[in-house]
Amino acid sequence: MERIPLIAGNWKMHATIAEAERLAAAVVEAARGAAGREVMIAPPFTALPAVAKVVAGSKVALAGQNVCWEAQGAFTGEISPIMLRELGCSMAIVGHSERRHVFGEGDAMVNKRLRGALRFDLTPVLCVGETIEEREAGRTFEVLERQVRGGLAGVDLAVSPLVVAYEPVWAIGTGKTATISQAQEAHAHVRDLLGRLSQKKIAAQLRILYGGSVKPENADDLLRQPDIDGALVGGASLSPESFGRIINFQE
Ligand code: 13P
Repeated sequence: MERIPLIAGNWKMHATIAEAERLAAAVVEAARGAAGREVMIAPPFTALPAVAKVVAGSKVALAGQNVCWEAQGAFTGEISPIMLRELGCSMAIVGHSERRHVFGEGDAMVNKRLRGALRFDLTPVLCVGETIEEREAGRTFEVLERQVRGGLAGVDLAVSPLVVAYEPVWAIGTGKTATISQAQEAHAHVRDLLGRLSQKKIAAQLRILYGGSVKPENADDLLRQPDIDGALVGGASLSPESFGRIINFQE
């Protein structure tokens, strides 16, 4: 099965409702002509209802930037998978580097979130990535392995829709992208690991996105790599021109 490239925009904590509506309308427009590509955006929770109306009937999918593992309950500050589904989301990001490093989420919690998403029919986007200290200490593969194994504990990859995003922490929001070969090497390693956790042919079908300072200037080269199946874009997804150009990357 061919892996259809997925271009995903993570808006993080940006955009008022009015700004989100304008940006979403531009993304719908940019995605219209992009045959053979899937497009997803993850607006802030507050903008989801308005953005859902804008993307309705288009090829742009909606995602939560995070998700709780319970349907409801005493979880102040969290959002439930059912709430996300009600707002039209079909996906949810889990384990984003900012959740891990700013808010202290560990692999066990990421795993709960991921399984919660799956239980309520949301496709999780599991983010993994090493810090600069870990890379310089030669521990990149070990960290990726821990995060992938931890995040996917108890998950049967044969029956679970899933997207993985490799986002080296040192490349996020820094303007410093991984080199093409660093990115491809990490992706190949993650795919190999997914194969060891399930089967090679299942791993061959899973999409692994690259994230970390993806811009129009580097998207084509990154997305041409054999194991890079899309992009998870932060800063550049807030500009309709830049995100539109990345959606329409040149193969
Ligand atoms: P930047 O594209 O701003 O580096 O952010 C990447 C990211 O964290 C996407 O989830």
